[in-house]
Amino acid sequence: MAKKIVVIPGDGIGKEITDSAVEVLKKVAEKYSLELEYEYKDAGGTAYDKFGTPLPEDTLEACKAADGVLFGAVGGDKWDNVEPSLRPEKAILGLRKGLGLYANLRPVKVADSLTEYSPLKPELVKGVDLVIVRELVGGIYFGDKCESEEFNGTERAWDLENYSVPEVERIAKLAFETARLRRGKVTSVDKANVLATSRLWRRTVAEVAKDYADVELNNLYVDNTAMQLAVRPTQFDVIVTGNLFGDILSDEAAVIGGSIGMMPSASIGECTSLYEPIHGSAPDIAGKGIANPIGTILSAAMLLRYSLQEEAAAKAIEDAVDAALAEGWRTADLWHEGFKKANTEDMTKAVLAHI
Ligand code: IPM
Ligand code: MG
Repeated sequence: MAKKIVVIPGDGIGKEITDSAVEVLKKVAEKYSLELEYEYKDAGGTAYDKFGTPLPEDTLEACKAADGVLFGAVGGDKWDNVEPSLRPEKAILGLRKGLGLYANLRPVKVADSLTEYSPLKPELVKGVDLVIVRELVGGIYFGDKCESEEFNGTERAWDLENYSVPEVERIAKLAFETARLRRGKVTSVDKANVLATSRLWRRTVAEVAKDYADVELNNLYVDNTAMQLAVRPTQFDVIVTGNLFGDILSDEAAVIGGSIGMMPSASIGECTSLYEPIHGSAPDIAGKGIANPIGTILSAAMLLRYSLQEEAAAKAIEDAVDAALAEGWRTADLWHEGFKKANTEDMTKAVLAHI
């Protein structure tokens, strides 16, 4: 039976990069005799403009019924003044909640040929191979909030951070399982010297660790982790952390690899999972056909691996990306003298040529 993939281009460069990833999926499906069907749905600012809501019910329902979701990006200055509950970002937050996407996996692997792009010294980033496992449907992102209230004669706002034991157990288990398939090391990141939620987090992770004696666990505070990522990023294998800390650290970790345009992610759900590049909608270059499609192409590979269990096809995409880069193809975000300049279409073709 055909597997159904819902494609959500979203806003900004979303259409260009998802078009490119779907082309690659089609080629790999042909080669590995996979039957894939694509259904396109709206979300984000584009959906808001059309339907008055960033996440139409019909989009969420289609995602629930799909075998996997390929997501482009949402957001843009155009919607900066939209009411907070209708902002484009609410589309991705609503999908996370609606699909129960409790874990976000963000791998950062620096190929030797790409160490020169890192803002860190090449010798520091050589061999970096880590994955951030970020809790995605809890914490301060989804706690009670107040946009504005009067308090002691002045205006204030607040957001509430809370974590329950089962929420932490679930993400911790996934982190330990992930580490087992890698180098067997988990670093749990929190702010347990200050925050109650972090103390519960640390205690709970330690409990879960008892079932994974073969995996090494260490704890770090988030501020120290931010520093360690810049000082000695090769020390990390799996980093597990809460929603807000994970948001911040994953941008930092991603840039270690040079271009944020290269980084894929998988958001693992209770049933359907969602795959998206981590770079965002880049409204400044939208429609110009110059965006780097690799983050999305590699996200499509993760979809094949985790949602369809098609390891060989996933690997074929990753190898084709490596081969295109080895040939010297670079999009504008990575290009300099001596390389072949690629727009989105050239880069896509260069990848297709190796499948
Ligand atoms: C991310 C993004 C989102 C987040 C935004 C778009 C809501 O920054 O996926 O990291 O904060 O989680
Ligand atoms: Mg982010």
